[in-house]
Amino acid sequence: MCGIVAYVGPRDAAPILLEGMQRLEYRGYDSAGVVVSNRGLKIRKVKGRVADLAKVVPARFKGTVGLGHTRWATHGVPSDVNAHPHLSADERIAVVHNGIIENAGELRAKLEADGVEFASETDTEVLAHLIAKAADENDTLEEAVRKTLKSVVGTYGIAVIDAERPGEVVVARNGSPIVLGIGEKEMFAASDVAAMVRYTRQVVHLEDGELAVLKADGFHTFASDARETAKEPLTVDWDAGHYDTGGYEHYLLKEISEQPETITRTMSGRLDERFHVAHLGGLNMDARETRSFRRVKIIGCGSAYYSGQIGAQLIEELARIPSDAEPASEFRYRNPVVDPDTLYVAISQSGETYDTLAAVQELKRKGGRVIGIVNAVGSAIAREVDGGIYLHAGPEVSVASTKAFTSTSLAFALLALHLGRVRDLSPADGRRIVEGLRRLPGQIEEILAQGDKIAELAQKYAKHPSMMFVGRVRGYPVAREGAQKLKEISYVHAEAYPASELKHGPLALIGPDMPTVAIVPDDELLDKNLTTLGEIRARGGQVLMVGHREPGAKLADDVIVVPKNEIELDPILLTIPLQLLAYYAAVALGRDVDKPRNLAKSVTVE
Ligand code: G6P
Repeated sequence: MCGIVAYVGPRDAAPILLEGMQRLEYRGYDSAGVVVSNRGLKIRKVKGRVADLAKVVPARFKGTVGLGHTRWATHGVPSDVNAHPHLSADERIAVVHNGIIENAGELRAKLEADGVEFASETDTEVLAHLIAKAADENDTLEEAVRKTLKSVVGTYGIAVIDAERPGEVVVARNGSPIVLGIGEKEMFAASDVAAMVRYTRQVVHLEDGELAVLKADGFHTFASDARETAKEPLTVDWDAGHYDTGGYEHYLLKEISEQPETITRTMSGRLDERFHVAHLGGLNMDARETRSFRRVKIIGCGSAYYSGQIGAQLIEELARIPSDAEPASEFRYRNPVVDPDTLYVAISQSGETYDTLAAVQELKRKGGRVIGIVNAVGSAIAREVDGGIYLHAGPEVSVASTKAFTSTSLAFALLALHLGRVRDLSPADGRRIVEGLRRLPGQIEEILAQGDKIAELAQKYAKHPSMMFVGRVRGYPVAREGAQKLKEISYVHAEAYPASELKHGPLALIGPDMPTVAIVPDDELLDKNLTTLGEIRARGGQVLMVGHREPGAKLADDVIVVPKNEIELDPILLTIPLQLLAYYAAVALGRDVDKPRNLAKSVTVE
């Protein structure tokens, strides 16, 4: 987490940095700081948002090289002092950092023994002091940074400036992203292209272990052994407009509303009407290899994991390959048995969730075959996997995932079709799924058109302190994602259970204070689900049913009817009313919808 931005060029750095930091706030937003170099370093930092920082940056905060940082606290509480940038004691070196320095305690003790006084509780401050020491002993800042990093254990994306060497920025990456932006006689660096896309779309991604020196007239990159590395700039697809709210009140509502287009983009060019198959060239697998897997194991975190559960069911149903999903964070710590006949699928919107990345690295180290389902092109996970499916959903800015969730679920439908059609899925069933996929965007429009009704229901249900979400089989991951959305952004406590498990414990919670959102698709489990609704109502619990038909006032207090697709694809549609329900509940409760408390979008720490 944490967002970093750096600038060097002919212009005033501060406004460019502040604007870039605002675009990176999804990475963390508990404190923010900025430094510019102009005959000495000028620094301002505050606990709070980038907007709070902007208020305390004076008009005469001039300097054409500088760094900015927006923080998600790991070491030390959010405070003005713990906010980045961090300075060396002589105020010569300034550092911003994303990641965790694992041996910070040890390094700090050594520095303190040498008489260095620390200003903050952060792990990052050791870097400022160590680089300052090395800067005295080395000819260039890059050498000072490179040598310092040799003693550092942990993850970092860092950017460094030196008051005595104005006109340059040194950046380094190990586990946390750093992207360079190449402008006209100016250079940028940031955790994400979002921070600089207004100025340039020519970018270079640093690899782990790489460093770069940026000057107004260009850059060079090198490895930790000082050898120069060769980099090819890429042109990014997105422009500044993709990062705006586009007239919506919140990014979240914009991203929910974009789903007819984002779903269309995810399937665009990938459906084949002739053979009723999906073309997924990015998997880098021929038909023989595609046939060879006996299991599929899906890993991801948060909403990505829940979409993996939808994916596992799709693959089992359409390709009849045993499949399951597991949180990547659990998987990586339990010394998993890596099986050569298993296809591993890592899911990540950002492509940089550390637990997912570490799980992929562990799998690869053990010889596992890993593909990725990733939104961020060129991200760490995308580069680490053997092949994959890009979502092409466009930048997702709001912390809670919506369009990436549905696009991931759709990508699984494509993967399941692909795996199924080289096995036993009949052409007729292939056609049924292809046609179903084509219907999805229009059906999503129909659900979005019910926004006002869902907003009213959200007002009614958000009054309760707690909500239960239930679903059976295909409906269960939908229920989990619905509960996740609600708790993330509205802070209403929500639990998700398989409807069948309700009677084994959680039914004790049901009563007038605990309404239930029940996912009830029109599938072979409909009758069982309706029985569950009866059991809830009999115990005085209110029911908001999300499904394909009105079950009658006896079974549900309220119903959101969604259009019916093929049963395997219904979970994608059933998710959308729950996104709207969470959104409108958060609005009704006056929450900070796009930046919920304590969270960040890219969790790049363990
Ligand atoms: C964070 C976000 C979640 C997200 C998860 C995985 O916890 O708050 O919304 O689902 O990370 O993110 P990824 O980028 O890997 O999909």
